[in-house]
Amino acid sequence: MFGRPLLLKRPRGLTGAACRWHRSSLTAELIENMDKKATWDRFYQENMSKGEFRNFEWFFGFQSVRDFVLPLLQAPQSPHAVSRVLDLGCGTSALGPCIFRHSPGPVEVTCADISPVAVQLMQEQAKRSSVQPQNPSSSLDFLELDCTELHRHFLPRSLDLIVDKGTTDALLRSKEGHVKAGQILKQCLRVLKSSKSLVQFSDEDPDARMTWLEEQTLGPGELAADVLVQEVGTLRGVCYFCYQITTRAAA
Ligand SMILES: C[S@@+](CC[C@H](N)C(=O)[O-])C[C@H]1O[C@@H](n2cnc3c(N)ncnc32)[C@H](O)[C@@H]1O
Repeated sequence: MFGRPLLLKRPRGLTGAACRWHRSSLTAELIENMDKKATWDRFYQENMSKGEFRNFEWFFGFQSVRDFVLPLLQAPQSPHAVSRVLDLGCGTSALGPCIFRHSPGPVEVTCADISPVAVQLMQEQAKRSSVQPQNPSSSLDFLELDCTELHRHFLPRSLDLIVDKGTTDALLRSKEGHVKAGQILKQCLRVLKSSKSLVQFSDEDPDARMTWLEEQTLGPGELAADVLVQEVGTLRGVCYFCYQITTRAAA
């Protein structure tokens, strides 16, 4: 896939991974279609055709974000309660399986993606590796789901944490994905319990993402949320951020 590098101008806002993809056989037209299932099916099929399964990380992996994620799962008042976690647009990333594996408290992790190819690859890999979680009550599941329709699978106020690594970025950068990114954010706020968070890992500059997030969460009642940003670090000269969007406590 990563053939001889071409001299392409880096499109504004594209990550290192997306740029490598840009040099691949996939065309710029497909980059504009990162909100489409067919684009991702093709991407993961191309990855799969390389032979042995390897997790593909759009950008950094679990180790870089574990200190942002695991503390959000600790509930000192009820250490035995199972935390329900969603990896939104999981692709073939190891993030969801690593949360399952490393969470000291019990977690029920669902890795969801619109691409059935990615979901099948993840299911097969989980069967092959049969990783044991730190907490014996934890579970891991994979689901083909268009996350603009989270309500089809999750009840309102049922999740404790949603992680999104690169998925909202992909939608916001594609030609027609902006509306879908807003729909997904609203769905997340509906299915999260009160005072629980959606964390978006992204290379989008806070000037742009905070403005967008604040506009989206200005709504009344259940859509109101508090937004925080923290720097995660720099990878290949690109600075990454963690945007934490937390639902308000029920009045
Ligand atoms: C940039 S990749 C990130 C994948 C993974 N989170 C990672 O860190 O490598 C975006 C992912 O979002 C998925 N996706 C795009 N639109 C989606 C939607 N509406 N619902 C669920 N997943 C979606 C794609 O299939 C793709 O796997």
